[in-house]
Amino acid sequence: MKLTVIGTGYVGLVTSAIFSHLGHQVIGLDIDEKKIKSLKQGKIPIFEPGLEEFIFKSLRRKKLQFTTDYSQALKGVDVVFICVGTPSKKDGSYDSKFVYASAESIAENLQNYAVIAIKSTVPPSTTNAVKKIIQQKTSVKFDIASCPEFLREGSALDDALNPPRIIIGTETKKAENILIKLHQKIKAPLVATTPQSAQMTKYASNAFLATKISFINSIAILCDKINADIKDVTKGLGLDPRIGQSFLNAGLGYGGSCFPKDTWALISFAKKLGYDFNFLKQVDQVNQDQVEYFISQIKSLYSNSLKGKILTILGLAFKPNTDDIREARSIPLIKQLQKLGAVIHVYDPVAMSHAKKILKNVKFFDSEYTALEKSNGLVLVTEWNQFKKLDLKKVKKLMNQPVILDGRNLFSPQKVKSLGFKYIGIGRQ
Ligand code: UGA
Repeated sequence: MKLTVIGTGYVGLVTSAIFSHLGHQVIGLDIDEKKIKSLKQGKIPIFEPGLEEFIFKSLRRKKLQFTTDYSQALKGVDVVFICVGTPSKKDGSYDSKFVYASAESIAENLQNYAVIAIKSTVPPSTTNAVKKIIQQKTSVKFDIASCPEFLREGSALDDALNPPRIIIGTETKKAENILIKLHQKIKAPLVATTPQSAQMTKYASNAFLATKISFINSIAILCDKINADIKDVTKGLGLDPRIGQSFLNAGLGYGGSCFPKDTWALISFAKKLGYDFNFLKQVDQVNQDQVEYFISQIKSLYSNSLKGKILTILGLAFKPNTDDIREARSIPLIKQLQKLGAVIHVYDPVAMSHAKKILKNVKFFDSEYTALEKSNGLVLVTEWNQFKKLDLKKVKKLMNQPVILDGRNLFSPQKVKSLGFKYIGIGRQ
């Protein structure tokens, strides 16, 4: 089938990569000429394991092309995926301007019947707005649809090729059949529904996962107060199959481009519908308060004064295997620690170039060991695999004070204490 993917950001590139890999003819379109020029050479602007190789192979097999030209991209197309960005506005609602702009360009250049499916995460109701925009500008027949994505950064290719489910939201049987055929080679349970339900499924999924994280972080605070171990509690809790083990890792809370933005957007969407989604507001509040909580724990180890203390932040990305620092917990944490007088050293395997644009008066190092020299505390913020394998004996010798402040519960408290470190985790001491 012939597929056009509008937007070459994270979702657009992964979508282009997997459908071309599965044998479809894919055109990736973006209005950013510089980006398209480097994509044509197989250069990927984001860090995602395996993505560059997938794109490169598809380009070589001529299954994938990139262009800025809508008219060329839409010639003979069967399915158009809208994968443009949906940034947050100040009030938390999502900004539809890129989705609507792409709808206008599609309408101006559509030459034959196609299914136009929104993949960007948008509130239910957006499909109607997009449909109207296109109908006003063209007499060419089309069907509108919603195909939300459930990719996680860092494991996006595997998530896309082996998803737990495929959600297809359409208004006609014809569009449904086309989208089912497009996904034929992906083996997963498929839910065929309306666009509204498809989009609600996406919001509900992210809001529910965010809820799990804030819930377990609240339980972790209680564990700290009674000297219980959150890891053991989570293990026992998750063995109930109705609850499950996943997304119950207590820590500094969630970041990234999805959970924070999508919870705010759902709260704002609910408000427009006359419903006060108070519950989800609390989920967001718990997440924001988690950084403050960790700082209060840190302060307690230094007799409440961080003035002049060198704290080494290991990990800036919002999670491992990505260079993405959007809404990363590292940013508010570092800014707060600086306000309290701490001197900040940082190291992250891939996210430092992005962070340099945001963080001021921070010393960046080219390895975790150099960053830890003369440090008064190791502050673990992102649980990169390489940090798990740190040579702690060497670390202890490098540091001025052997203290580990574990914002992701990566280390074993018993092990690090036996090596002579002072240790604080989240919900475990
Ligand atoms: C999330 C969802 O997991 C995807 O299903 C969805 O498609 C995507 O948003 C999206 O809407 O596009 P992502 O933001 O890439 O994916 O990352 P996650 O792996 O879900 O992690 C989000 C945040 O939660 C990270 O900061 C992570 O550290 C934190 N987290 C996750 C926890 O604090 N505890 C956990 O147990 C799990």
